[in-house]
Amino acid sequence: MKKLIAGNHKMFTGVKEGLALASEIARNAADFGNAQVVLFPPFTHLCVFHEQLQGLPLETGAQNCSDMPEGAFTGEVSAGMIKSTGATHVLLGHSERRTLFGEGHELLCRKINQALDAGLQVVYCFGENLQDMEEGHRFSKIEEQLQAVFESFSQDELDHLVLAYEPVWAIGTGKTASLHEAEEAHAFARELMRNKYGTDAGNELRILYGGSVKATNARELLSSSEIGGVLVGGASLDAAEFLQIIQAAG
Ligand code: PGA
Repeated sequence: MKKLIAGNHKMFTGVKEGLALASEIARNAADFGNAQVVLFPPFTHLCVFHEQLQGLPLETGAQNCSDMPEGAFTGEVSAGMIKSTGATHVLLGHSERRTLFGEGHELLCRKINQALDAGLQVVYCFGENLQDMEEGHRFSKIEEQLQAVFESFSQDELDHLVLAYEPVWAIGTGKTASLHEAEEAHAFARELMRNKYGTDAGNELRILYGGSVKATNARELLSSSEIGGVLVGGASLDAAEFLQIIQAAG
């Protein structure tokens, strides 16, 4: 299976700048090789990205969606609206949404439900923070975040979900989990899936690593069979560096 290389642009770039970045990446599509590339720009960019990138092997996704299908919810963007832009993915459960916007399991499960109903693939982020790590609660935190989702969806529904292990202490800090730490967390998540839905479901689960992924560490991370791809924040805003990460998928 191809490695998924996801670029999370967060709240950076105007439309022109974002499009220039995406076009520069798309111009090098011949080098994508073993990579499936998905860009997650701000909502405002999705339509124009899709229009300009048509026919190229570059997919788009949103960084969030509403937990409601439609209605008088000023400022919200539904999963169906995202799908209508031509986007294929949505990122949910990112630690910035959990900590800065107070998103918890129940809300996230409602959002996942909306995304799946709309026919989007979900990239669901999970991961411990520094305190969990220092106090030895790393795995119980991961378990809590994943069980909430595994319990709420069927195996068929979970086929449309990709996990992204992002230790909070590694996001935007320049600190990356060691290969061993990443593999350990991925294997733990896979085991939870196996326990719930059987060996095949566990083995087939695609799990990305995220947190200070750069051109210098991507190759090592992507060489692991446990790691199905990477979710890249800061380094995805630099086309040359992001292209090197894509090429590191082999
Ligand atoms: P980073 O962000 O690569 O800048 O650490 C990753 C993320 O937040 O998804």
